[in-house]
Amino acid sequence: MNPLLSRLQPYPFERLRQLFASVTPPAHLSPISLGMGEPRHATPAFIKDALVAGLGGLASYPATAGEPRLREAFTGWIARRYGLALDPATQVLPVNGSREALFAFAQTTIDPTREGAVVVCPNPFYQIYEGAALLSGATPYYAPSDPARNFAVDWDSVPEAVWQRTQLLFVCSPGNPTGAVMPLPEWEKLFALSDRHGFVIASDECYSEIYFRDEPPLGGLEAAARLGRSDFKNLVSFTSLSKRSNVPGLRSGFVAGDAALLKAYLLYRTYHGSAMGPAVQAASIAAWNDEQHVIDNRAQYRQKFAQVTPLLERVMPVSLPDAGFYLWAQVPEHLGMSDTDFARQLLAQYNVTVLPGSYLAREAHGANPGAQRVRMALVAETAECLEAAQRIVQFIQSPSP
Ligand SMILES: Cc1ncc(COP(=O)(O)O)c(C=O)c1O
Repeated sequence: MNPLLSRLQPYPFERLRQLFASVTPPAHLSPISLGMGEPRHATPAFIKDALVAGLGGLASYPATAGEPRLREAFTGWIARRYGLALDPATQVLPVNGSREALFAFAQTTIDPTREGAVVVCPNPFYQIYEGAALLSGATPYYAPSDPARNFAVDWDSVPEAVWQRTQLLFVCSPGNPTGAVMPLPEWEKLFALSDRHGFVIASDECYSEIYFRDEPPLGGLEAAARLGRSDFKNLVSFTSLSKRSNVPGLRSGFVAGDAALLKAYLLYRTYHGSAMGPAVQAASIAAWNDEQHVIDNRAQYRQKFAQVTPLLERVMPVSLPDAGFYLWAQVPEHLGMSDTDFARQLLAQYNVTVLPGSYLAREAHGANPGAQRVRMALVAETAECLEAAQRIVQFIQSPSP
């Protein structure tokens, strides 16, 4: 067996199952889950129709690089969203969702024969970054997010000796779970570090289309172009249809950026066998070419967050994020509970599931930056999220009825 497998950590939902194993939630209250970050708005009918209409291609193997029309759909979207002109032949590739793509990218970029390979990632973070780093033979380094600066990652806290060994940096903007969007000066700092130390930046942008400010989140490629880095040297961004178009089951996204990196990545993917099926390609083309459903989806999230956030703000430290579909709330100090106690008792008394923040982060440099926080995914319909928020308010106001 690959000995590196033993270094993988249990997934947060596995830990949640164990935490809840002995809990019997009250039967008179319907269960409401704010736990999983899985989109639950309806999939637009035209995407399903395109999927069915694309079934004709099943009799042949698809190319790993995708059909030209698919690649043009990616670059067309990038042009409309970020005002950038990318070459569909060399600067984009289809992926089967950003999860496998992020994982496979580490396997492509890390050189395990170089002593002491490091992958830097934010803390809290999406657990795939850590697994991708470990299975590539690298060691993850966790850079904490700073609640005092809107959860911006404290890149300055990473020692120079760590940057020197860094081969890959994961950034997540908008962030999961914090919702924080990286501004241009932060990108400038990371590009300078990448130039100095030669590491690659993987920019996870799967929440880019769900935002609450007027201005859409700055993308990594957009930041690079604004700073005169038109070849996107050492930068690849990861974009997904899952959240944008409510199709997590389709498994569809794309990567874009540095053509030299994508050439190596395509070679890796060809061997790994991760071509996108023709029907999924057809549905993806339809989804990327339409923006109205994305505008409507965003409006639904905005309405929901506008109603739910003020309710919770009255009883716990929490605020509207820049983007994403999570509230990253602090457990009120006066309760004297850990984040895991809070989640357990909330389920036991009100049948509402939230995810303890410490499960989404690692203890590193003497602290777990997710401790005393909980993540609430507002993915269900507004009425259900409001009901959950009302129960949480009651729970905080009288935690032991
Ligand atoms: C930060 C982050 N990146 C990537 C993904 C993977 O999304 P997908 O594989 O559906 O594109 C998720 C899913 O929850 C996520 O939260």
